[in-house]
Formats: sequence, structure tokens, C-alpha cells
Amino acid sequence: MAKDVIIALDFPDRKTTLDFLDRFEGEKPFVKIGMELFYGEGPSIVREIKERGHKIFLDVKCHDIPNTVEKTMKNLAALDVDMTNVHAAGTIKMMEAALKGLTEGAGGNRRTLLIAVTQLTSTDQERMESDILIKENINDVIVKYAKNAETAGLDGVVCSPLESEMIHGSTGEGFITVTPGVRFADDAKGDQKRVTTPGKARELGSDYIVVGRSITQAEDPVAAYRRCVKDFLGA
Ligand code: C5P
Repeated sequence: MAKDVIIALDFPDRKTTLDFLDRFEGEKPFVKIGMELFYGEGPSIVREIKERGHKIFLDVKCHDIPNTVEKTMKNLAALDVDMTNVHAAGTIKMMEAALKGLTEGAGGNRRTLLIAVTQLTSTDQERMESDILIKENINDVIVKYAKNAETAGLDGVVCSPLESEMIHGSTGEGFITVTPGVRFADDAKGDQKRVTTPGKARELGSDYIVVGRSITQAEDPVAAYRRCVKDFLGA
């Protein structure tokens, strides 16, 4: 399983994003394009960044009726990204439909990894109980959602690094965990609740870490990225 650091390109527009990527000169980090950039610029930004040689995680977190998600994924397949996702809360049926759409859109030969968001790393037990009326233990919810994703045939889940170990313990070999909620020990947590450091994420078994503000807002983002890679891959 290829382990890697994915930089969250949480920028408002093309120019800011490309200026940021230009700072890396020859280096081509794996990047995540989220809703902010995708809704702002559309598919052309995905094509442009792909042409520059980056691997791309298109973080669109689809959550809708199965028919709509299937058609959406069929269309997204044309972008030929390396990874994309849906919300596990959309049910097994919705995740199966997503996989079907993505596979059909790729002419039956799917290359894009499809993963599911369990619970957002900004949600904690208290919020989950009070706002979305789920009274179970958050860890049980996360493991159940991960198993649902596996049942639907997905490749893995998005979760907190603190949950990687228990998910790997409850799912089959090769089922991956992609983990945001990563901070250097000396950083602010921001709105994230369930966070840890890159080195600890590695120990806990994360397959990919997604890092946004700790790199994008750093005084020297390239140095922060390299620090992350070193901490996470031990390279
Ligand atoms: O800046 P920060 O490192 O907190 O950014 C984390 C990124 O990961 C954001 O782009 C956010 O949308 C994404 N993400 C997350 N929690 C999830 C799924 C995605 O924080 N469960």
C-alpha cells in the first residue's frame, strides 16, 4: 500500500492555487481538490493540475439519492483522478451506486480509488448526539460506517488518524484509511476536534494523511510539506 502525504488545496481560486503549487518547483505533491476550489473553478482546474503531473484526490463528498450519485460519479470518472469520495451516511445502496457509476464511467476499468467519509473530523461525540441525534458511541458509528463502505465494495474511508487502528482491525487487508485532522505538535487545532501529528498517524496505521492549514498557512509551505513527509514516511 502506497503511503503518502496529500496537501489539501483549500484555496478560493485558480491563481492562488497555482501560485502555491509553483513554490514546489520540481516537486509534485499528491493534492486534494475540495469543494471550495472545485465549485469555484469547475473541472478545468482538475485537468490543469493533473496536466502538471500531480496525483489528485477530488474531495467532493457526494451525499444524495443513489441515482444522482451514480450519475455524478459516472461524469466524474472522465476526470480520471486518483481518488474521490462519498459520505457513508448516504447508505450502502448509495455507495454501491457510486461505485457502479465510477466503474461504468471508466469503461469498466476503474482506476480511481473510491472512499467514504465516516464522521467528519470536526464532529465529536457531543455534537453528533445533540445535532444529528446519533446516540451511539462515535467509535462504534465510525466502525459501522467503515464496514458499510467495505460491504459496498469501496476501497477505504476518510477518518481521523485516531481511528485508523480500530478500522484496520475491523476491515479486511487492503482497506485504506485516509486521514485529515493532522497537525504538528506546535500548531493550532482550528475547527478540527480529533487530531494528531504526522508521526503518530503513521504509528496508528494511516495510509494517507491529508494536511491543509499546517502546510498551506505555514510561513514556508514547502518546508512544512517536507517536514510532514519526513514525520509520516520516516523518510
Ligand atoms: O486545514 P486542515 O488540515 O484541517 O484541512 C483538512 C482537510 O481535510 C480539509 O480540506 C477538509 O475539508 C478535509 N476533511 C476533513 N475531515 C473529513 C474529511 C475531509 O477535515 N472527515
